[in-house]
Amino acid sequence: DIPGLVRLVEMGSRDGLQNEPADVSTDDKITLIRFLNETGLTGIEVGSFVSPKWVPKMADSGEVYDRIEKRVGVSYPMLTPNLRGLEAALEHGVREVAVFGAASESFSQKNINCSVAESLDRFEPLCKQALEAGLAVRGYISCVMGCPYDGPTDPAKVAEVAARLDAMGCYEISLGDTIGTGTPLETKRLIRAVSDAVPVERLAGHFHDTYGQALANIWSALAEGVTVFDTAVAGLGGCPYAKGATGNVATEDVVYSLEQSGIDTGIDFDRLMAAVDFASDIVGREPVSRVGRAVRAK
Ligand code: HMG
Ligand code: MG
Repeated sequence: DIPGLVRLVEMGSRDGLQNEPADVSTDDKITLIRFLNETGLTGIEVGSFVSPKWVPKMADSGEVYDRIEKRVGVSYPMLTPNLRGLEAALEHGVREVAVFGAASESFSQKNINCSVAESLDRFEPLCKQALEAGLAVRGYISCVMGCPYDGPTDPAKVAEVAARLDAMGCYEISLGDTIGTGTPLETKRLIRAVSDAVPVERLAGHFHDTYGQALANIWSALAEGVTVFDTAVAGLGGCPYAKGATGNVATEDVVYSLEQSGIDTGIDFDRLMAAVDFASDIVGREPVSRVGRAVRAK
């Protein structure tokens, strides 16, 4: 059975802008979130408290967070890789943080400079302190279907990491196809394997569209009961530690496909297109999404 209601978590301002070549000003990031706030999205990832040497584009995330309008009923998560990140989040009054691990060793090393086991040991006290402070914690797992360095990923490994994040109190675990190589049948196998460890209600799909599989993978995950997906307006982005990766699946491609199929996303399409227009302006290129291009060409 396909669910009637889907929640989308917007990644444009974080996963998107962290790797866009354009230099987007702090003011423009804030304006982008103002557009996104108008769409009906209930989750907008704002940025990250990570090393500015590793990810310079997110260096102003604290200021962006301070200056955006925080609406009731909308979550504004920030990525926190370590306790230092959590401290920053607490200083800024952040209500939700996200930890991010991986199912592949080489990616873990390249992305957060430690092994998978070390990262989980690092997240343990972070989650504990965040939960004690009343924050919600989301968990990410990268390279769930393949790694740019280690090749295909064993779904059992993903299930193992997911179980650990679940035990730490992550309310939801987002499964990242970081390099976008996964296909619908692999997605189905992945969700089946991981939902043996963590209830499917607490899994989210985070598909990058590098190989054009993301929308098909979403439909495959939907059929397995996943109802939360991470998307990025105009298909912004890539990943600094996954060469050649393109952005998350475009929010407008997903909203169009779901809404036209009678699945409610709570998102106003015209207002979303206003955000798409603004996003393409600030990065200086046309949206990569098929729907975005088709609608703008009309
Ligand atoms: P490290 O070098 O191992 O850690 O980095 P360190 O503790 O030795 O610190 C090194 C430097 O970073 C020091 O500065 C620290 O102060 C600073 P220095 O003394 O050299 O001037 N530092 C920090 N600065 C600000 N905030 C912090 C922080 N921590 C240390 N929280 C670390 C380890 C994890 C910090 C580093 O590797 C890092 O920041 N990596 C960036 C990771 C990242 O943001 N990746 C992109 C997001 S993940 C993603 O996109 C995937 C996802 O979308 C899902 C998917 O698609 O798969 C989520
Ligand atoms: Mg990503």
